Amino acid sequence: MIEIKDITKTYKSGDVEFNALNGVSFNIKDGEFVAIMGPSGSGKSTLMHILGALDNPTSGTYFLDGKDVSTLSDDELADIRKDKIGFVFQSFNLLPRTTVLRNVMLPLIYDGIETAERERRAKEALFAAGLDETHFYHLSNQLSGGQIQRVAIARALVNNPSLILADEPTGNLDSKTGEIVLGTFQRLNQEHGRTIVLITHEQYIAEHADRILFIRDGMLTENDNGHSKRVIKNN
Ligand SMILES: Nc1ncnc2c1ncn2[C@@H]1O[C@H](COP(=O)(O)OP(=O)(O)OP(=O)(O)O)[C@@H](O)[C@H]1O
Ligand SMILES: [Mg+2]
Repeated sequence: MIEIKDITKTYKSGDVEFNALNGVSFNIKDGEFVAIMGPSGSGKSTLMHILGALDNPTSGTYFLDGKDVSTLSDDELADIRKDKIGFVFQSFNLLPRTTVLRNVMLPLIYDGIETAERERRAKEALFAAGLDETHFYHLSNQLSGGQIQRVAIARALVNNPSLILADEPTGNLDSKTGEIVLGTFQRLNQEHGRTIVLITHEQYIAEHADRILFIRDGMLTENDNGHSKRVIKNN
């Protein structure tokens, strides 16, 4: 599904150039659950934005489902983001004085689907993300951190994407809520066959993935190609 080859990303501010990604290559197969780990500032979110076709690499190639993303028009990119990819961002961007349900219905508004059907799909996504029904009509600024995270996941699911990109979806959660959110991703992966790429700082979260990519200073330092949960490391 994903083929990344020699990707670099250089940010310029004034005369200063900064290489956020220094030649990253990897593949991700359909239905894989991949975790990305690395220190703060190592390039994880930068890579995620490229995977989500929200930003272009400075050099290198990115094939998504066999298509070279750099050759696609803005309209084609917008369609891919809308139909194929669900994003859970580091900042969740929910509309504050809007109900949970409306927040999740929002991505469907452009598809000309009637309200009742949008509502049905939004509720289904909220159930799948593990949010209790009692919260569906609460305003999003009346929720706890963990509940907001689940709404953000529901919003990413509502378009039925085959690829889910999640940037620290369990950050700032206590470990119990973190495990519930992790369970949501595992279910989406195992029961619904969704491909998942998830950035995390937490080892216990990453260990549930099929594979862990480690990034440091914009480079992949370890590409654990075995199933990480089954790998025993000898020191
Ligand atoms: N738009 C930008 N302009 C200039 N530099 C940027 C920009 N976005 C990110 N950077 C720099 O690129 C590097 C990588 O940033 P990135 O957001 O990918 O890190 P990260 O691994 O996601 O970190 P964190 O774990 O803190 O979220 C950082 O040093 C950051 O300051
Ligand atoms: Mg980040």
